[in-house]
Amino acid sequence: MEKMKLKLLYSDLKSDIDLIEKELEKALNSSSHLLNDASLHLLQAGGKRIRPVFVLLCAKFGQYNIERIKNIAVPLELIHMASLVHDDVIDNSDMRRGRHTVKAQWNNRVAMYTGDFIFARALQYVTAIDNSYAHQILAHTMVEICNGEVIQIEDKFRLDQNLKDYFRRIKRKTALLIESSCELGAVVGGVNDKNRRHLKRYGYFVGMSFQIVDDILDFTATDKELGKPAGSDLLQGNITLPILMLKDDPTIRPYIDQVVAGELSEEQRMDMLKLVRRSKAIKDAMNISNKYLQKALKEVEALPDHPMKKKLRDIALFMGKRKF
Ligand code: IPE
Ligand code: IPE
Ligand code: MG
Ligand code: MG
Repeated sequence: MEKMKLKLLYSDLKSDIDLIEKELEKALNSSSHLLNDASLHLLQAGGKRIRPVFVLLCAKFGQYNIERIKNIAVPLELIHMASLVHDDVIDNSDMRRGRHTVKAQWNNRVAMYTGDFIFARALQYVTAIDNSYAHQILAHTMVEICNGEVIQIEDKFRLDQNLKDYFRRIKRKTALLIESSCELGAVVGGVNDKNRRHLKRYGYFVGMSFQIVDDILDFTATDKELGKPAGSDLLQGNITLPILMLKDDPTIRPYIDQVVAGELSEEQRMDMLKLVRRSKAIKDAMNISNKYLQKALKEVEALPDHPMKKKLRDIALFMGKRKF
């Protein structure tokens, strides 16, 4: 149902998205069967492909040429995929997109090289882009994703972190790549500076909201919707917005302490999920996500009249209400 809605949102771009999909498959071709199998395993599990979609939409505000723009849309999805393969090692996650993760199906070493391989393929693709500013944006974003993920390791199980730590972390690990997708779509599409800045900021605000919703869904969605067990973030020690808001709640704190001690039983996981789902923190976190979305919509308003403005609005709103 939800996936149908997304398809509908993407319908105007269908032939170009299909082309990107084929390119992604081509990009993951390797003379090593192992690298081939491991990367296709993740690609074929699906995913929302939201980053290339943002690239295409933003490029539409300039001179749109799919043959040119694919050289930046494909690497952005590849960088995302590579970061997921590595993220599952860091987070020790066994399931993603309803399938075993590369690290679970093979092992951590294979996951390291699969991630590196996908990153390297992304770099090969962007060599076709003759614009040093575009390369600077991309390189900066890749460095910051690494910083964000390492900070996530350092902050694991740390309950003394504050909201500022959380927002700084999600900016790096998620929002910047979405911001870059929008900005690079604009740069490669030759959008003027003023509109490029609006599209970039739109991407940043949508990206912040996107990760907050991801962190809420980790508690509120079902295992099936998530394609992995609900509550995984906390079990892995990743202290996200709902937990930061609940850490001093007398009914929930004992569960958090059990998690930190590594002693939460399956029954307690289910009880804790029920309590968190019913808590005010979910609404409060959703409100924060919505504030970011409102800011994103303001950036859209500032853009000149264009048929893609409605798409940018609809996709932002969908991402804020999504269930997966
Ligand atoms: C998952 O990203 C990781 C985050 C940054 C929240 P997506 O939710 O875009 O993952 P897929 O590509 O659709 O699986
Ligand atoms: C993923 O963050 C961010 C990156 C891959 C850089 P999460 O750890 O929240 O993503 P999921 O929940 O595993 O998809
Ligand atoms: Mg993770
Ligand atoms: Mg998550």
